[in-house]
Amino acid sequence: MTKPLRIAIAGLGTVGGGVVKALQARGDELAERAGRRLDIVAVSAKNRRKPRAFILPAAWSEDPVALASADADVVVELIGGEDGPARALVEAALASGKHVVTANKALLARHGARLAALAEERGLALKFEAAVAGGIPIVKALRESLVAHGIASVRGILNGTCNFILTNMERTGRSFADVLKEAQQLGYAEADPTLDVGGADTAHKLALLASLAFGTAPDLDHMPVEGIEHITPEDIGYAREFGFRIKLLGIAKRMGADIDQRVQPAMVRAGTPLGDVDGAFNAVAADAGEAGPFFFEGRGAGEGPTASAVIADLVDIARGSVGPAFGKPAGTLTPLRSAPPGAASSAWYLRFEVLDVPGVLAEIAGHLAESRVSIESMLQRGRNPGEPVSIVMITHDTPQAAVTHVLKAIATSDKVLGRPRLIPMEAG
Ligand SMILES: NC(=O)c1ccc[n+]([C@@H]2O[C@H](COP(=O)([O-])OP(=O)(O)OC[C@H]3O[C@@H](n4cnc5c(N)ncnc54)[C@H](OP(=O)(O)O)[C@@H]3O)[C@@H](O)[C@H]2O)c1
Repeated sequence: MTKPLRIAIAGLGTVGGGVVKALQARGDELAERAGRRLDIVAVSAKNRRKPRAFILPAAWSEDPVALASADADVVVELIGGEDGPARALVEAALASGKHVVTANKALLARHGARLAALAEERGLALKFEAAVAGGIPIVKALRESLVAHGIASVRGILNGTCNFILTNMERTGRSFADVLKEAQQLGYAEADPTLDVGGADTAHKLALLASLAFGTAPDLDHMPVEGIEHITPEDIGYAREFGFRIKLLGIAKRMGADIDQRVQPAMVRAGTPLGDVDGAFNAVAADAGEAGPFFFEGRGAGEGPTASAVIADLVDIARGSVGPAFGKPAGTLTPLRSAPPGAASSAWYLRFEVLDVPGVLAEIAGHLAESRVSIESMLQRGRNPGEPVSIVMITHDTPQAAVTHVLKAIATSDKVLGRPRLIPMEAG
């Protein structure tokens, strides 16, 4: 057998611990798959005295960046964060001629194109299967397997915390804040959940998927991002009445020469593959042109799934696969040309809270007709006398700019309370 692949691992938490355990438990089988042994030769984490569910497998270093000069072939970065020690380590490792495997979507979404160029200059691999959708092998699929006809769109449920919260709001009728608290108690949400529920984590992953799909440099700066904090039990209830479920989607679509990429809660029809993704699961739906539609579903986080993805990258490197990080040479990644704001077209869910007075529905309908926004279905729910009434409408396919324009006009009415709610409908 060829000489072992020598691996240095920085970060021994959820992902790093899972990688160590899997390499220790399945070393012989993995050696057969990889054509050589995968040997851990150095590790680094913050606190050496922390109890771990495995025996420290190799030389310990307090300083993760020191792993860049370890006697290793590959550095695995599993610390996290878009800058700080993670970035310093990845840059130093590539500069000193070591392949890099990372699960760090924040780092790659921000600095991916530059790091990919650094790796390529030296003929090194920069692999990141674990960075998007955990155990789902979507990075390799987009980078290598679905290239023949190009990708028209890629859409995904990419954050398990958000999907867990939305699924449980739907099951129990409880509020976002209530369910978030429960998710934190169960370990499905961080103490500071902002990155997840605000949509930034989904944005990091979408930036990588869009780059792999369209050959553009990862771009976070041209991506509208909306989280799930404002989703109410009312919206979830109405979605259900119309046969839909609310999902936080990362969406990247070709629109001519432009790319429409955004993170947004969307209504997806129940009973479709995307619409039926439950709990903490992730899923990605890709339209690969003449190759047809593809749908991937699996666990997007946690020790087992992420270790599976990291080890898949290590096996690839052991077998000599060191192709470009984003599937084409870094120098050919083009800047993302984003679709003009409001250009995306879809059907829309609109909800108005209105005073229960004569003429209000006619007023709303008048504005919609004037702007040529046509309505497919409508629901009006009365409450107790004197209380506000909900009017819910589903439009036909309409450009976003037209809907937002008309909603602004409607919101100025003294019969309409608060801001109308607007959620796009997406195919499942
Ligand atoms: N968790 C998931 O399911 C998941 C899924 C996909 C991607 N990821 C990504 O994988 C990466 C790791 O996530 P994780 O969940 O495994 O994190 P984690 O459980 O918090 O582990 C982080 C590890 O990094 C170590 N560390 C932190 N700061 C350090 C420093 N300054 N110097 C050296 N070591 C340091 C910690 O050391 P101690 O152990 O001593 O505290 C710990 O071992 C992140 O980029 C994350 O976005 C995670």
